Amino acid sequence: MNNGYLEEIMNQAVDGVRRGLESHDPKMEPEEIGRILSVAQGVVQAKGMRSVGAEELLMLGPDVPGMALDIMPDSVGIALLGSGEGLSAGDEVVRTGRVLDVPVGKGVLGRVITPLGKPLDGNGLIASEKRLAVEREAPLILHRAPVDTPLQTGIKVIDTLIPIGRGQRELIVGDRQTGKTAIALDTICNQKGADVICIYCAIGQRSSSVARAIEELKRRGAMDYTVVVVVEGGDPAGLQYIAPYAATSIGEYFMHQGKDVLVVYDDLTRHAQAYRQLSLLLRRPPGREAFPGDIFYIHSRLLERSTRLKPEQGGGTLTALPIIETEAQNISAYIPTNLISITDGQIYLNPDLFQKGTLPAVDVGVSVSRVGGRAQLPAYAKVAGDLRLTYSQFQELEAFARFGTRMDEDTRAKLDHGLRVREILKQKRFSPLTAGQQAAVLLAVTKGLFGPVDLSRILEAEEHLLGHLAESRGDLDSLARADRDDPMWDGLVDEIRTILETME
Ligand SMILES: Nc1ncnc2c1ncn2[C@@H]1O[C@H](COP(=O)(O)OP(=O)(O)OP(=O)(O)O)[C@@H](O)[C@H]1O
Ligand SMILES: [Mg+2]
Repeated sequence: MNNGYLEEIMNQAVDGVRRGLESHDPKMEPEEIGRILSVAQGVVQAKGMRSVGAEELLMLGPDVPGMALDIMPDSVGIALLGSGEGLSAGDEVVRTGRVLDVPVGKGVLGRVITPLGKPLDGNGLIASEKRLAVEREAPLILHRAPVDTPLQTGIKVIDTLIPIGRGQRELIVGDRQTGKTAIALDTICNQKGADVICIYCAIGQRSSSVARAIEELKRRGAMDYTVVVVVEGGDPAGLQYIAPYAATSIGEYFMHQGKDVLVVYDDLTRHAQAYRQLSLLLRRPPGREAFPGDIFYIHSRLLERSTRLKPEQGGGTLTALPIIETEAQNISAYIPTNLISITDGQIYLNPDLFQKGTLPAVDVGVSVSRVGGRAQLPAYAKVAGDLRLTYSQFQELEAFARFGTRMDEDTRAKLDHGLRVREILKQKRFSPLTAGQQAAVLLAVTKGLFGPVDLSRILEAEEHLLGHLAESRGDLDSLARADRDDPMWDGLVDEIRTILETME
């Protein structure tokens, strides 16, 4: 190599070092340090740190983060985000000068993390593009567009009667063990190939339930496009409190890139309870059911962040499926009513239906979707147009029929039809149907084509029908987009009639 070249490189290096030294400006910065006054279950009171900011990240030990929640003239209330074991009065609290944040971007897909972005899956550090604050402003109303694209759950009763649109907030509410998580997980798994990024945020659950959910997502190939944010029941209340906001920030990052995102919060009852615990320990005045006065605000602030952005803003969407657990079917308790008023509808799961084996146990009469109907695919207008009305009339009739009243022919026919509709709306777990398949099956039931089939064999007939149609018509995709006046429908009715008549 030639010497001149080496010399030039040396000179450049020396120059670089000199410039670095010249621009270096050693400053003494006072680091504000506080002292712990008291420690109680997940909450610490500290003094000092006069200019601490709201929601600032504080360090109470090398590995014990905390968040400034209550800023008083002479003390700071801190929610612990790690174990408080070993902390005692007099210990140091160090300010970091930054708010809580989470890693976001492609690197978090397929990962299981804590709300602070620590990996829980043993697959090493998260390769994040960026970090975003956990608490962020909701998109401006000016930047929002109406919902216009369906988010298919693959569950017949939901996609036909309580349709969800991308950018909508739909509450899943019901007593314990009624299939709430099952609906959410089935919906996530149905997004495979639909180009929707999913985030499953597990709050305050037992670790065995969380492990089962993760296992299911993996087994069904949903982890490729899913992030799981986990905080368990035994974790500090502060960590449970920030979890849904962190999950939303992860989703927002993708939404602002123009992507479609689905976030499941499982569940917000636990979230509200964690916040109540924090508030009581911070001695905030308790209100109804001992919840603090701002409990409505913490949930509205969260769900305000899901929306559909205008095309000029990239056109991304963030759909929210918050889950709430009721006690003894009381949907008018404090937290459920709050959430019902914040969301664009609710899917109510009834334990009585669950017991009778009507699964999924969606109570059609109490469930509603206030915006999704506008986004439904055209075929549903044809096949499910008046299904809701006929079904609720059937339920009334059925209640009457229980008294053993004599019925005329017409009533009996209506009852018989209703029973078939109810049977066809049943669906096993892990068996999502595409919009085209749903359209075919619902066409069959609304046109009374299941008439000759015995009630106990309806679901078997459904399988038989779909098998045949797959052979004769392929993936049925065009069916879902067919207009209600499309001449194709008549031919399909004839074909289905023949298929069902030839069932053994
Ligand atoms: N459509 C279905 N078909 C068959 N079984 C179902 C269906 N939906 C849910 N289940 C079963 O019901 C049980 C309860 O479901 P799941 O855990 O989803 O309820 P949950 O309301 O989330 O319960 P928890 O209150 O414990 O969170 C599970 O064993 C699940 O497999
Ligand atoms: Mg559950």
